[in-house]
Amino acid sequence: MRISIIGCGYVGTVTGTGLAEFGNDVLLVDIDEEKVDTLNSGRSPIFEPGLDELIVKNRARLHATVDFRGLEYSDISFICVGTPSKDDGSMDLRYIKSAAEDIGKALEKKTDFHLVVVKSTVVPGTTEEVVSATIERASNKKAFGDFGVAMNPEFLREGTAVEDFFNPDRIVFGTEDERSKRILEELYKSFDCPKLSTGIKTAEMIKYVSNSFLATKISFANEIGNICKRLGIDTYKVFEGVGLDNRINPSFFRAGIGFGGSCFPKDVRALIAKAEELGEHPQILRAAIAMNDEQPLKLIEVLKKHVPDLKGRKIGVLGLTFKPDTDDIRESRAIPILERLIEEGATVVVYDPEAMDTFKKLFPQIVRATPEEVLNTDAVLIVTEWQEFEDLNYTGKIVIDGRRVEKARKGAAIYEGVCW
Ligand code: UGA
Repeated sequence: MRISIIGCGYVGTVTGTGLAEFGNDVLLVDIDEEKVDTLNSGRSPIFEPGLDELIVKNRARLHATVDFRGLEYSDISFICVGTPSKDDGSMDLRYIKSAAEDIGKALEKKTDFHLVVVKSTVVPGTTEEVVSATIERASNKKAFGDFGVAMNPEFLREGTAVEDFFNPDRIVFGTEDERSKRILEELYKSFDCPKLSTGIKTAEMIKYVSNSFLATKISFANEIGNICKRLGIDTYKVFEGVGLDNRINPSFFRAGIGFGGSCFPKDVRALIAKAEELGEHPQILRAAIAMNDEQPLKLIEVLKKHVPDLKGRKIGVLGLTFKPDTDDIRESRAIPILERLIEEGATVVVYDPEAMDTFKKLFPQIVRATPEEVLNTDAVLIVTEWQEFEDLNYTGKIVIDGRRVEKARKGAAIYEGVCW
């Protein structure tokens, strides 16, 4: 099939490249010329393990452009643009609207059927009320007749997005008409996983509920972790036991300093905003966010047991990204931690394999260092569990760990976890 992808962030680039690997011709469209040039030179505009190799392999079937008119020559367009939060937590739909407008204009002259699929995470109702309505206006055509509309949420994790694309737990098709449903079934026929067909609004909600549940699971693990620490119980053993219950499942119980990234905090806030708009009081979702806002500062609380006055002390920080294997620092727990360290007058010495430059722009006063230099400070905080931190020598050091790095746990002279 001929596919166009609107938005070359990690969802769009991975989805487009993955679909090219299945033999489809893919046009990647983005307003950012630099991204387009990078893609056309055979490289990924984002850091994602395995993606560069896949782009090179499928170069003949992958083209990038800033010109939206190109999508007229495709059969399906996937909307993969960002849906950032506004100050009140609700979703900023500016990129969605502009993508829909551009698709509408490109479809105006097209005579054959075209399917528009929303992959971006959008609150229930958006695909039909905003995307479909905007395309109808811009194209002078009718949805579900002249063109199809569907919602196909993505469940890709940054850092393992390529692997997740090829091995999904499930694929969800949200459609309202048989024709769109059949096209999606055909497109995804090579995938051997459960495929759930739903209405569009339900598909939109499945994505929010998945992310909100996982975020809540982490906040729950952190709350239990804080209690376990007081009781002198190893919370990781507790969740090992709890997770063995089939009804529960062991994943996403890693207690620590909480969740960051471009998805969980934003999506839970957007669902809260939507619920409030509808007159609901989403107490559990609010608690998941409140818990997550407090948890990174627990690391400082534990640090102060060992270094009570941070003024003028050298504090090392290992890891700055919101999780390992990404260069993304959005909502990273490192941000509130660094803010507090600087506020209290510490000299902050940092190492991260990917995010030193971006952090230096945010916090010009931090000292960039090698991992060894970070270890040569008054105390070390572990904020992100990069694999390479398992190879460092923590002998004789004071380590306060937010992510449970085993080598530090076993090797440091003084070691304390944030909730173990
Ligand atoms: C998340 C979801 O896992 C994906 O399924 C979803 O597609 C994606 O959001 C999205 O909406 O696009 P991602 O944000 O890339 O993926 O990262 P995760 O691996 O889920 O981690 C999120 C945060 O939770 C990280 O800061 C991580 O350190 C933290 N986390 C995760 C924990 O603190 N404990 C855990 O047990 C698991």
